[in-house]
Amino acid sequence: MGKPKLVISSGAGISAESGISTFRDAGGLWENYPVMEVCSADGFRKNPRLVHDFYNARRKDLITKFPNDAHKILAELEKDYDVYVITQNVDDLHERAGSSKILHLHGELMKIRSVSHPEYVEKLDLEHLETSPETKGENGDTMRPHIVFFQEAVPNMETAVEWVHEADIFVVIGTSLNVYPAAGLLHYVRPGIPIYYIDPNPADITIMEPQVHIIKAKATEGMKILKDILENKNKETDS
Ligand code: OAD
Repeated sequence: MGKPKLVISSGAGISAESGISTFRDAGGLWENYPVMEVCSADGFRKNPRLVHDFYNARRKDLITKFPNDAHKILAELEKDYDVYVITQNVDDLHERAGSSKILHLHGELMKIRSVSHPEYVEKLDLEHLETSPETKGENGDTMRPHIVFFQEAVPNMETAVEWVHEADIFVVIGTSLNVYPAAGLLHYVRPGIPIYYIDPNPADITIMEPQVHIIKAKATEGMKILKDILENKNKETDS
């Protein structure tokens, strides 16, 4: 028999202890920046320079940050589980921690894509992280941040739904479950499959009871607790 499939849906909270701001907590990014100006299709049409500058600042911040124990424990779980990471985060901390199967629902900060050919994506190199409305790709196209703005479709959602539907264990970590369609992934978990939700201030998902086990803790502590729970479960099955 293959390894059990552990699917995790991560949000900004998993990177909070790495020093990256979340969006909706007190002092979060959306308290300090007008979200519809820096992260919407309309905002980008109106003032692309402002949007490029916002993501330039996010990249400059990201390269000073490192994966924390929550990202690392998740990567280590690949020894015993077939781990699939679905993340709303645009940072690359899951990659740097060593997770191998990662789906970014809202894009990736370290990549840019063509305005006219959305499938044409380039990775930025660390020496040239600043972009502007004048930035051209190697193919000559005008490029934009590889971010899914509000008012845009989430192209990876279909794959995410497939992964969630196949999960033997589903974990949600560090997300306020405010943004759809990502927040709706929970509803694709098969009946009877355990769901663990790690967050110090979890959203109300009592509707999913009794399938959901809330671990009210920060990501690093919560992942340690989850690891213990999973190890104990394995011992029970072995004995
Ligand atoms: P939010 O800022 O909405 O929610 C962050 C969640 O992390 C909250 O539930 C916090 O309680 C929790 N949290 C805070 N510190 C934590 C810690 N140390 N450990 C674990 N959890 C912690 O962020 P998201 O739900 O990820 O989209 O936001 C979803 C999307 O909204 C983002 O991907 C972004 C934003 O607009 C785009 O930019 C397109």
